[in-house]
Amino acid sequence: MNPILNTVLQPDSCAASLVSQEDIDQICTDLYQSGWTVVENFLSAAFVDLMRQDLTTLDQQEKFHKAGIGRELDFVRREDIRSDRICWLDNINETQNLFMQMLDQLMTAVNRRLFLGMNHYEAMYAIYEPGQFYKKHVDSFKGQRNRIMTLVFYLNPDWTQDKGGELVLYPDVSENGVENNEPIITLPPKAGTVAAFLSEDFPHEVLTTHDIRYSIAVWFRIRENEIPL
Ligand code: OGA
Ligand code: MN
Repeated sequence: MNPILNTVLQPDSCAASLVSQEDIDQICTDLYQSGWTVVENFLSAAFVDLMRQDLTTLDQQEKFHKAGIGRELDFVRREDIRSDRICWLDNINETQNLFMQMLDQLMTAVNRRLFLGMNHYEAMYAIYEPGQFYKKHVDSFKGQRNRIMTLVFYLNPDWTQDKGGELVLYPDVSENGVENNEPIITLPPKAGTVAAFLSEDFPHEVLTTHDIRYSIAVWFRIRENEIPL
């Protein structure tokens, strides 16, 4: 067995499994019923340490760059909207490989239960320095069916309330287009927690953080040319 695997496996998962059946059940049930979920202690402390170590190493190697909004030709830096710095995961080492194995298992399990047909993902590390934030936004526009499911994994041990930096999730814009500013949940970015939601349905924001804040954002997607006819 992979020596890293040994340390990150959850007690109730079998040899090759990086996600427990219990967590899969909760995620699928919640997504089906309400379109979002939060699971605490989804990543073990050892897995969190490993990911945080990879993140900080890449940061020391200056592999991070200022985040922007929009894609490709539409990409712009807007520090009034988001001020974090990011680095895409690219399966460049054993740690990232392990994380991606976990994502593969999770995506397959969710597809099986909810028939979402997701076939591809992208994952990125994000660092928010004190004073930084990401204003209210959606990760995918209605009907685009590009990013299907957003997942955010948090890597911050000993997070206390005074540190801020919460993820705030808002309800879907209602049928008549009236925006609802009553949060569904305000979630501190505590180590091991994962938040997941349907990318088109939930506006969300990252409140100003008062301490350095580490996360991994993941989007499960459908690649156009792989949609079965
Ligand atoms: C994002 C995002 C939330 C978080 O990167 O699109 O909304 O809690 N991140 O880091
Ligand atoms: Mn987002």
